[in-house]
Amino acid sequence: MRLDKYLSNMGVGTRTEVKGMIRKGRVQVNGGVVKTPDIKIKPEEDAVSVDGETITYEKYRYFMFHKPAGCITATEDPMQKTVMDYFEVNKKDTLFPVGRLDKDTEGLLLVTDDGALAHALLSPKKKIGKTYFAIIDGEVTEEDVVAFSKGLDLGNFTSMPAKLEIRKAGMVSEIIVTIYEGKFHQVKRMFEAVGKKVTYLKRLSMGALCLDENLSKGEYRPLTEEEIQMCKANLDGSK
Ligand code: URA
Repeated sequence: MRLDKYLSNMGVGTRTEVKGMIRKGRVQVNGGVVKTPDIKIKPEEDAVSVDGETITYEKYRYFMFHKPAGCITATEDPMQKTVMDYFEVNKKDTLFPVGRLDKDTEGLLLVTDDGALAHALLSPKKKIGKTYFAIIDGEVTEEDVVAFSKGLDLGNFTSMPAKLEIRKAGMVSEIIVTIYEGKFHQVKRMFEAVGKKVTYLKRLSMGALCLDENLSKGEYRPLTEEEIQMCKANLDGSK
């Protein structure tokens, strides 16, 4: 891989910034200063440092993003703001969001370049639980809890059993729901099936990965090593 691409992929800076660093002699490969951005390195073998600080090679990158309402879950769009518009330029080229949240949905979104993990997390066979907080127009009842646990007829398919917990019941209710699949508008359609309307939806967790409440809407941070391992461990299908 080209040295400038490698440094940019590892989050050191944009391609232009890292080229500047290389030309200024701030970058060393295997202990020697290298001033040509296009030399090829072997990321898994060569030791690269910037200003004396080792740049550890990470094959894939994993970020937790707190999606705000008002942006679409896509990598690019000519008209609308996308979730990737919140990421620094040097992170945009290979990263993508795992799964989809509606434009008006907030909360946890995993953003990565690890296609295999994304594929596994989204596979219906793995039955990864996705938990949402929602505000519902209408009174959510114990009958709804039972109906959700049995699976609901959503017209073109029947939903898998889902776990519904009522947090506040009234003309406006607050609930926590866990679903094990991810069909288009699924939570909204499940409430429509019991005659109610979702007015606010926020994803709290996906498998063992929980939204970090210290992240403000529109912010992201790298997953910790522990979180990455939790995501991978989840894939035995048990959660
Ligand atoms: N279910 C929905 O209806 N919308 C989302 O964004 C996610 C789950």
